[in-house]
Amino acid sequence: MIRISHWVGGAAHAGTSGRVGPVFNPATGEQTGEVDLASAAEVGAAVATAKEAAAGWRSASLSKRSAVLFKFRELLAERSGELAAVITGEHGKVLSDAAGEVARGLENAEFATGIPHLMKGSYSEQASTGVDVYSIRQPLGVVAGITPFNFPAMVPLWMCTTAIAAGNAFVLKPSEKDPSAALFLAGLWAEAGLPAGVFTVVNGDVEAVNAILTHPDIAAVSFVGSTPVAKYIYETGTAHGKRVQALGGAKNHMVVLPDAELDAAADAAVSAAYGSAGERCMAVSVVVAVGEIADPLVAAIAARLPKLRIGAGTDPNAEMGPLISAQHREKVLGYVAAGAEAGATVVADGRDADLPDAGYFLGVTLLDNVTPDMSVYRDEIFGPVLGVVRVDTYAEALELINDNKYGNGTAIFTRDGGAARQFQFDVDAGMVGVNVPIPVPVAYYSFGGWKASLFGDTHMYGPDGIHFFTRTKVVTSRWPDPGTSSVDLGFPQTR
Ligand SMILES: NC(=O)c1ccc[n+]([C@@H]2O[C@H](COP(=O)([O-])OP(=O)(O)OC[C@H]3O[C@@H](n4cnc5c(N)ncnc54)[C@H](O)[C@@H]3O)[C@@H](O)[C@H]2O)c1
Repeated sequence: MIRISHWVGGAAHAGTSGRVGPVFNPATGEQTGEVDLASAAEVGAAVATAKEAAAGWRSASLSKRSAVLFKFRELLAERSGELAAVITGEHGKVLSDAAGEVARGLENAEFATGIPHLMKGSYSEQASTGVDVYSIRQPLGVVAGITPFNFPAMVPLWMCTTAIAAGNAFVLKPSEKDPSAALFLAGLWAEAGLPAGVFTVVNGDVEAVNAILTHPDIAAVSFVGSTPVAKYIYETGTAHGKRVQALGGAKNHMVVLPDAELDAAADAAVSAAYGSAGERCMAVSVVVAVGEIADPLVAAIAARLPKLRIGAGTDPNAEMGPLISAQHREKVLGYVAAGAEAGATVVADGRDADLPDAGYFLGVTLLDNVTPDMSVYRDEIFGPVLGVVRVDTYAEALELINDNKYGNGTAIFTRDGGAARQFQFDVDAGMVGVNVPIPVPVAYYSFGGWKASLFGDTHMYGPDGIHFFTRTKVVTSRWPDPGTSSVDLGFPQTR
């Protein structure tokens, strides 16, 4: 069993709280590690180290910061296979999916190498006679990230690359369920030449989170996780004077119009619903079948399901791994039962699948004739369960999505450009796919939902990330010639 410690002052740092949490291999159900759970005092000590480092790091030149980001990007690319294996070992997702996660995280490092360009301010010459006005962006100081289990490398990379490139010291509190990826990243940052203390990992649970939310030296908190926790993080962090962006859960709808290309829509629905066992915030969990496409679409989705290969993430033939924990598997099973009980048609039943004996595996479930009053429709299940809601018109499909409390991602499948454009205009969601089921924005755009999927003002990474992790200073400057000044008690005017 490995001991998973913190990372403070540029090195692994054993916990002293006396509290640890178990880490499991979801494919076997075996406990593989023990993670230190930080006390408030340990968080305080880590933040003090970060604060000291932040002062030096913000003085480092943009080219020095960019050079560290380039090196970090190279190391991450070189060692992506190793990192993917670390992810699979604790999360359970198949290795190819873990490699995909690392690749999307890598994009954020690539974006952040351009920090000299991204930090540019603006300059207005002669705003008043002999007066120039310019704006500059400066880092916030010590900032923190609190991340979920389902992307143990990518989500930390969304945050830390931008925050660090912008000149902040970054304190990461990863999920206690799969914390090793965060420490792997810490090692890469050190090897890339990042000064000690600029990237810190404090492992922990609610105690560590609360210590972060209330610490006076933490200026901003970036959070990704479930909606109830996101709301708590936003409210508590802002009440303590912090800038907070808190991304929450999702219920992503994929609308399929009658003219959609049937096979492409069915392939997309299966890939997006069951990839990573449905444990993606951008997973499609509801297909909204419009009109006469419903029967052939459900048949086409169902026909694909027996071919899905479920197994350990390390098995190169497996396409879908286990769920994260025994408790989560029970919760998902409960939803399947509730859906059947409430009258949904069980087209494929994950409970009947032939699965490995050990581990937290669950087969794929397809529920047809789901209605908005059912818990399988209302709640985020976060498992391999896809519901199909049948409607007659585009207007009904749109109403369903816009009435839903979540607004993370959505997609429309159609051959009609006008319908797609109207959907993009009408829909209340932060990320929209047109014939693309998981529309996760590339690194040079930003990621974020609407409604209960995001608390705060800015999306994450990309241009919004730079905005979140910096603040603006505007300078008004004059260089008067000797003898040209006079006393003037009037309010400054710009003529
Ligand atoms: N919107 C997005 O971009 C996005 C991306 C990935 C995951 N998610 C969401 O994350 C969830 C899955 O991740 P999870 O199960 O790790 O989420 P979670 O909310 O349980 O945990 C997220 C983080 O919050 C901490 N935490 C958990 N309970 C807490 C509490 N009561 N008080 C304070 N801190 C607490 C955890 O230690 C973890 O670091 C899903 O809802 C999914 O949709 C959203």
